[in-house]
This record gives sequence, C-alpha cells and structure tokens, in this order.
Amino acid sequence: MTAMETRVDEIADGIYRLSTFTDRVPGGFTYNQFVVRGDDALLFHTGKRLMFPSVSEALSRVIPPERLRWVSFGHWEADESGALNLWLEAAPGAEVAVGTLGTVLSGDDQAVRPPRPALADGEVLDLGGKRLRWIDTPHVPHGWDAGLWFEETTATLLCGDLFTHVGAVPALTENDVVVPAAAAEDLFGQTCLTAHTAPTIRRLAGLAPATLGIMHGSSFRGDCAAALRALADDYDRRFRASLGE
Ligand SMILES: [Fe+2]
Ligand SMILES: [Fe+2]
Repeated sequence: MTAMETRVDEIADGIYRLSTFTDRVPGGFTYNQFVVRGDDALLFHTGKRLMFPSVSEALSRVIPPERLRWVSFGHWEADESGALNLWLEAAPGAEVAVGTLGTVLSGDDQAVRPPRPALADGEVLDLGGKRLRWIDTPHVPHGWDAGLWFEETTATLLCGDLFTHVGAVPALTENDVVVPAAAAEDLFGQTCLTAHTAPTIRRLAGLAPATLGIMHGSSFRGDCAAALRALADDYDRRFRASLGE
C-alpha cells in the first residue's frame, strides 16, 4: 500500500472509526480500526504493520497512543493483528485482550508481552463509561479463535469482517449493507460456511444493536437486527447450496 491516509470519524458516542482506503483491491477497499474511548481506551483491530504510521497518527487525533490500555482484534490475521507488537511498544501500559482460543493458541506466543487473562464468552471489560462484552464466534466469519465486541452503552456491535463490502464508502451509512456484503462474499469467499455460520450470526441479532462497526466498508446505523438476520439467511442459502440442496 502506498500514499496512505487514515481518516477518523466518530460513528457512535465515544467510538471512533479509523479508516484507510486502498485501491489495490478491485473496487477499492477500506481497512478500519475502532477506538472505544472510556476512562480507558481500547483499539479493535491493529491494522497491518505497513499501515501503523498512518493509523497511529490517526489514533493520536483521538487519544495519545501511549495511553492506549487494551489492544484487541477478532482473530489472528495480518489486518486484524499484524501491527500488534508495534502498538504494544508504542503504549507501554497496553495489554492484549482477546478470547480464550486467541489467547492460548497464539497470544501467549506472538505478543511481546503476555496478554491479559483470556476473556470468557460473555465477559465484560469495563473501560469506565464504556462496557464491552466479548462474544465468541468460532469460525464466524473465519478463524477458530474468532470473536467480537458489543459495546453496551451505545449498543454498538464491533462486528469485524462480518458485512465486509468494497468501495470508497462513507464512514457511516443508513443504506442497506446486506446486498453489498453478499456481493463481496461472491468476490472473496472469505466466510467459513458451516452449519453454525447462520445460527451464530442470528444470535448476534438478539443483541439488537443500534450501530454496526464494520471492519471493511461503511459502518451501519439502523435496524441492525434485521440486517444480521438477512445476512444469516444469505449464509444459510450459501451453505445449503454448498451441500447441493
Ligand atoms: Fe479476517
Ligand atoms: Fe479483516
């Protein structure tokens, strides 16, 4: 990636989207990180190592990077966790906060400092003014260690790679994100199709989020439960098709 620029938008109260656009993916593509700012601050997704100078400069418009308390991501993969150790070096008080599999399979080995004790499914991390609930979503959309966060005070679901869509898109949209997500799935085939895919996504609808923080694409505000159910239906259809039904 060259000539990187990372923009910052507040997508819900105290939740900031740091977004870096690249045209190296057909149609254009965004890599987004989310900063949840309470008394402590958490960064969800580290970005790739090459993006670190641009993303850390963007973070400094929200908080001094050295004040970062938690670094988290949905699974171990370059865009989710690649720059982890650069963040841990930049923020001496920061610790990795991920789920059980992410901690024991990779975190204990890959991070320059030991992660905090693994987050249990449903465990709350209290940032002071923001309450993040960790939710295990194994293999959804991919990665055995997959998980995501629900921020309870703003009803924001930081849903990682779910709803991935391409394009030079706005920070926040109220337009449909399901059709663009299905088009990207056709293009990339990034999601692990199993009998658990749709039920896992449907369970997230039960949280009734007001906002979706989407890692690749616009964030979404609107009827998130309906969007999650429609996305689950699309994966149901794909799974059945894969079985020849
Ligand atoms: Fe991913
Ligand atoms: Fe990603």
